[in-house]
Amino acid sequence: MTAADLTAVYAIDALSFPTPARQGLFEHEASGNDLAHYQVLWHGQQVVGFAGYWLIGDEVHISTVAVHPAWRGKGLGELLLLHMLFLAYEHPANIVTLEVRRSNHTAQQLYVKYRFECVGERRRYYRDTGEDALIMTIPALDAPYFQFLESQRDRLFAQLQSEA
Ligand SMILES: CC(C)(COP(=O)(O)OP(=O)(O)OC[C@H]1O[C@@H](n2cnc3c(N)ncnc32)[C@H](O)[C@@H]1OP(=O)(O)O)[C@@H](O)C(=O)NCCC(=O)NCCS
Repeated sequence: MTAADLTAVYAIDALSFPTPARQGLFEHEASGNDLAHYQVLWHGQQVVGFAGYWLIGDEVHISTVAVHPAWRGKGLGELLLLHMLFLAYEHPANIVTLEVRRSNHTAQQLYVKYRFECVGERRRYYRDTGEDALIMTIPALDAPYFQFLESQRDRLFAQLQSEA
C-alpha cells in the first residue's frame, strides 16, 4: 500500500465496515508504523481490495481485510488472506491471530476455511456497536500447514484463471 492507493482504500473501508477508519490511519499504517504490512489488490486500473497485519515479535496479527462490494464472492478476499499467510510463513511468524465481529459470519467462514480456530472472545470490543469480538488463531504454522497453503493457492489460482 502506497500513498497513491489511499483514496481507494478509504473508499473500500467505508463501504466495508460499520464505522469508517479515521482519517490518517492508513497513512500511518503505510509509512509511519514499522510493525505494519499492508497490501492492496489491483484489477486493471482499480484497487479492488486491501489487507494488512502487524508483525509483533513472532506474531502476525491481521488488522483488516476488505474487498470492494462489487468484487466480492470471486475469491479475492481469499487471495488477500492467502497472501498474508504466505508472508507470515516467510517472516517467519509462529502465530497468526485476528479479531472478528461475532455477527460477521462471512469473514468467519473465510477464516475457518484457512483453519483458524476460535480461542476466545473480547466482550464489547467494538466501541461503535458494542459488539463482541471473537479471537481466532491458526493452531500451528508448520510444514503441513504450508503444504495446505500451497494446495489452496493452486486451487484458487485455477479458479481465478477459469473465471478471468
Ligand atoms: C470478508 C470478505 C473480505 C470476503 O471477501 P470475498 O472476496 O467476498 O470472499 P471470497 O470470494 O474470497 O470467498 C472466500 C471464502 O469466504 C467465505 N465467504 C465469502 N462470501 C461468503 C458469504 N456470502 N457467506 C458465507 N461465507 C462467505 C467462504 O468461506 C468463501 O469460500 P467458498 O467460496 O469456498 O465458500 C468480504 O466479504 C468483505 O470485504 N467484507 C467486509 C469487510 C470485512 O468484514 N472484513 C473482515 C473483517 S474481520
